[in-house]
Amino acid sequence: MREEVTIRISPEEIAAQQQFAREFSALDHRPKTYFIVTYGCQMNAHDSEKLSGMLESMGMTQADCKENADFVLHNTCCIRDNAERKALGNVTWLKEIKKERPELMIGVCGCMVQEPGMAEKILRQYPFVEIAFGTGNIHRLPELMLRAVTTRRRVVSVPDEQSTVIEGLPIRRESPFQSYVTIMYGCNNFCSYCIVPYVRGRERSRNADDILREVEGLQKQGVQEIMLLGQNVNSYGNDMENGISFPRLLHKIGETGIPRIRFMTSHPKDLSDELIEEMAVNPALCRHLHLPVQAGNNRILAAMNRRYTREQYLEKVNKIRAAVPDIGLTTDLIVAFPGETEAEFEDTMDLVRTVGFDSAFTFIYSPRVGTRAAEMPGRIDPAVATQRIEKLIALQEEMTQKVFASLVGTNETVLVTGHARRNENQLTGKCSRNISVNFEGPSDAIGKILPIHITAASKTTLRGEILKGD
Ligand code: 5AD
Ligand code: SF4
Repeated sequence: MREEVTIRISPEEIAAQQQFAREFSALDHRPKTYFIVTYGCQMNAHDSEKLSGMLESMGMTQADCKENADFVLHNTCCIRDNAERKALGNVTWLKEIKKERPELMIGVCGCMVQEPGMAEKILRQYPFVEIAFGTGNIHRLPELMLRAVTTRRRVVSVPDEQSTVIEGLPIRRESPFQSYVTIMYGCNNFCSYCIVPYVRGRERSRNADDILREVEGLQKQGVQEIMLLGQNVNSYGNDMENGISFPRLLHKIGETGIPRIRFMTSHPKDLSDELIEEMAVNPALCRHLHLPVQAGNNRILAAMNRRYTREQYLEKVNKIRAAVPDIGLTTDLIVAFPGETEAEFEDTMDLVRTVGFDSAFTFIYSPRVGTRAAEMPGRIDPAVATQRIEKLIALQEEMTQKVFASLVGTNETVLVTGHARRNENQLTGKCSRNISVNFEGPSDAIGKILPIHITAASKTTLRGEILKGD
């Protein structure tokens, strides 16, 4: 495999893009409003905040819906076939709106565009897409937009390699009290089913000082909770010569005074004792760990190239629970991996029963071109795959109910994020374990962290009441 050198985008290059942004905003005939449609994970959601920041720096404002926007940008995902089909379907649907409004500009970016061959496919099959770029060159959006608008030609720009670390982009954050902070990009793990290392490149860590400066800024603005993002946060710093470890970074972030810290995602093989210790002592760290296990059978785990056994995973679960007794664990699970037998699937069921996760994201295996698993024999009949996932979801729902029931009567701290969706008179927020809690309270509690007494549980949320001080 070719060694990739991390390219840290220089402040000069960012300044050049700012100049392109100013030139763009001075144009008479240019899109004035934008709408970004985001697919996929938090990493993509955060990229969309950066894209919005750049578009605003180019003099554009956000439209209330895509039907009204002059520029619609699709920030795509390609982790499973259905994510990709959904994005392409929605892009095609916009073609109809463009018939009525020819000035509508359509853009596509994100992981799907970074897939081998996709740029060519867009050029050939999607002639109404006027701008496409990958995840590795989002900082060049002002330049690419300027070129597309002034030359009136389609611009497709996808870097071959994914090796950049980009600092200094404007960010339009969705929430004033919860913020994403990227700590590293890419992944080196090459799980056999996963396309991420191919579209997001090798692991590159941001400098600790840059991260700390960003968190300090957020803390000063009154942000209550940050979510540190990376495909495998536990290997933070490994790619740098004098890098600090992830637990050390957490420690330093804790010292900024930010009230709450979350992070995702952790690979079980890299979950260190040092991290477990930090979780036990750092009061800002939320009592939640997302620890994707994927499968409960050792043959399948090996075929997935996960590099841990079921026993090792369970041992880590025991260790973290011994250190942080009230921690909430969540996970990702894949059913119907090539060759998965009924007995092997039952091992996953059994693991779910044994651990008692708060919740789980469950997926049917989806073959991705270029990954090793896509070449493996033993494709599972879709009807069998559906049966398995339904059985797994039903079991997880049972387990969630058990966890919820055990929390009734306890006191939790909740970051209030807004009004409850089903009942405007109620407030909602997340407790430290990352479970939604609804309760009655005044609107000015939004954005605050409050102590809540849990009184009841429904299928997906807890209910509670504000604990009054004495
Ligand atoms: N098929 C199904 N699920 C997948 N995931 C990643 N790749 C695939 C695939 N090809 C799931 C894994 C991962 C989560 C983000 O998506 O469970 O943890
Ligand atoms: Fe994909 Fe595995 Fe990397 Fe997660 S750790 S992004 S599943 S290759």
